[in-house]
Amino acid sequence: MNVRYPHRINIAIDGPAGAGKSTVARLVASRLQYVYVDTGAMYRAVTCIALERGLAVADEAGLASLADTLDITLLPGEGGQVVLADGDDVTDRIRSREVTASVSRVSANAAVRRRMSELQRRMATAKGVVMDGRDIGTHVLPDAELKVFLTASPRERATRRYLELGDDAGVTLDQLEQEIAQRDRMDSEREIAPLRQAADAVLIDSTGRTVTEIVEEIVSFGLKAAGSIAAGEN
Ligand code: DC
Repeated sequence: MNVRYPHRINIAIDGPAGAGKSTVARLVASRLQYVYVDTGAMYRAVTCIALERGLAVADEAGLASLADTLDITLLPGEGGQVVLADGDDVTDRIRSREVTASVSRVSANAAVRRRMSELQRRMATAKGVVMDGRDIGTHVLPDAELKVFLTASPRERATRRYLELGDDAGVTLDQLEQEIAQRDRMDSEREIAPLRQAADAVLIDSTGRTVTEIVEEIVSFGLKAAGSIAAGEN
């Protein structure tokens, strides 16, 4: 229990790839002593195991049954969130370029989305969760007390990924920008729970701004939302 801010709320942070959602969400959770849930990591875990088991991303029934039976666990770790798939630590493997290239296809699968959304809602029932993804404010947690849509220009998002990967990754900034644009398109144009800003979400453009500034802004919105709930209850 957070003694200073006892009224726990749920915070949904959605936005396109590379907008800084996971860094920001993790820091906001730590400031508020909330639990951070990276929903992209869950879709990545399903994708990683599917590829390793030789399942085709077009095999809808195979993916559905994998998602239904795969046990995905998210644990807080020293260097960020640790992801287990059936007890196997896949934290590093889910960030490979192969997984990144296939995850949009896998996450467009209706049965996979249904299963992941159900697991995500369960994680948020006790409140005090900061959840990042694409459809958290619109679909997974439509009643989240604070919704943020975090974005940045495609060039800036590609530059951040490029710096993260380093020179040895064998990929140019232009290639990364193209991959990001392609993923944005697939995530926004898919039929089920596409990436879009919820009507009641706060839009934050992180282009040219520091992580600290964004975190402080979201924390202050969060405290305001929690405070008005507390005032309503008194
Ligand atoms: O945030 P990320 O790049 O790790 O997400 C990986 C993919 O998962 C991304 O291409 C879109 C998908 N995703 C989704 O469809 N819904 C979510 N709530 C989170 C991620």
